[in-house]
Amino acid sequence: MSSITVCARFRPLTSKEKLNGDADSVCIRCIDSETFVFKDDKDEELTFSFDRVFYEESKQDDVYQFLALPIVRDSVNAINGTIITYGQTGAGKTYSMEGPGILECDEQKKGLLPRVVKGLFDSLSPSDEELTFSIKLSMVEIYMEKIRDLFDLSKDNIQIKESKSRGIILHGVTEITVLDPAEALQSLSRGIANRAVGETQMNLASSRSHCVYIFTIQQEFSREKRMRSGKLILVDLAGSEKVEKTGAEGRVLEEAKTINKSLSALGNVINSLTCGLQGKTSHIPYRDSKLTRMLQDALGGTARTALLCCCSPSASNVSESLSTLRFGARAKHIKSSPRVHCIEEKSNTGSTASSPPGDEFSSRIMNELGKRLNVEDVKLLEELFIQEGILYDLQSVEEDQEIENLNFQTISLLQEALEKLTSAIDELKRENSILKAKVDASVEFSFCKEDKKRLIHNTIFGGVIFVSLWGLLVWVI
Ligand SMILES: Nc1ncnc2c1ncn2[C@@H]1O[C@H](COP(=O)(O)OP(=O)(O)OP(=O)(O)O)[C@@H](O)[C@H]1O
Ligand SMILES: [Mg+2]
Repeated sequence: MSSITVCARFRPLTSKEKLNGDADSVCIRCIDSETFVFKDDKDEELTFSFDRVFYEESKQDDVYQFLALPIVRDSVNAINGTIITYGQTGAGKTYSMEGPGILECDEQKKGLLPRVVKGLFDSLSPSDEELTFSIKLSMVEIYMEKIRDLFDLSKDNIQIKESKSRGIILHGVTEITVLDPAEALQSLSRGIANRAVGETQMNLASSRSHCVYIFTIQQEFSREKRMRSGKLILVDLAGSEKVEKTGAEGRVLEEAKTINKSLSALGNVINSLTCGLQGKTSHIPYRDSKLTRMLQDALGGTARTALLCCCSPSASNVSESLSTLRFGARAKHIKSSPRVHCIEEKSNTGSTASSPPGDEFSSRIMNELGKRLNVEDVKLLEELFIQEGILYDLQSVEEDQEIENLNFQTISLLQEALEKLTSAIDELKRENSILKAKVDASVEFSFCKEDKKRLIHNTIFGGVIFVSLWGLLVWVI
């Protein structure tokens, strides 16, 4: 078992933040490359430690070397890997992933993606003539809780399927074979151009979807009768946002709500993975959103995972940064069991890692078997093939979809109900405090009245006694 790698990255202040005078109120103080002190909105100092902290002067290559390179090397050795950028909107997730642009020529500014592409091709360049390899690339975005193929926009509702042998699969997603780094970058650039991006008050080019880049690396050794395959997934999440800060309205507001919901589903998965009683397996709500279902293998599964928590250093974003850092601190407790994947007999290599054979392919196989075996045996074989992920039960794909939609709707309804309940409680509290103040005032008033009465009573009583004593004295005299 190993923990996931968690790093924090603080971007430089933006020119807008500098103009607002935020330069004087930066919320972090560096201790060393793993630890820093964070000042919250009550001026309390909290110490955070991560596997590595990248401060504002850190270089894109520092992030690649520490966070991504070990995962790139693993993926070449058939251990699946996932790299995720997480954080508030405008915190630097896309910048870390792509750089200022995917085809950016400034070597220093290049993001993780172009470096990963180069790293993969460098690690695979066959010094051994017996080795042949191929790299396939898919790109999807999760937009408004639907998975869209960024290489083929007509595929706008891709469904998720799970197979025992291949793990999570995107049913029918486009895979492009890339032959060299330049071709890979051109394809990435084409996919990125199709991604949903919008302007908000917090970020001129805000990602309005979660973007997922999938590299499938297949290697074949002609000496051995085997081939191996590893998957490397990079995820550039859309940022969490406070609607009052981003000024979202209309469609952008709907996007923000969906983004926040799926990010809270991600938070719930991480909580369940890290809160469970030791030694007992509790239910992990992976199916509550497309994002968590797609990342199932990366969160407590068999992939090696790295998380980059991107933050603004400005005191004006202190609550969002604190929540990002707490998310990272919790994620650090997730345990995964990375293992070598997909070592297959060469004879099984006809199908690709993520494209399930279609209806036509399945029925051809079953027809062939039907010619030689009896009906019962064919049925049994079909069940076994589906169980092992050799054939796909298309019915179950739809069920998966329905369950996911239902879960997402239930979460949405519950969240709306919770929001209403919270505002009702706030309103009741406010009314309660007004009533309390009224009661206090009237009690005080009645005390005053009581005191006055007592004073009048005492005065009259005192007067009567005085007059009586005076009369008695006169009579005695
Ligand atoms: N390390 C950095 N160095 C220089 N500029 C940066 C850095 N990180 C982010 N920026 C700049 O900050 C701005 C916002 O960054 P970016 O678009 O990456 O945010 P994001 O986290 O992807 O936001 P969203 O969730 O809205 O997509 C961009 O103009 C980007 O160039
Ligand atoms: Mg972004």
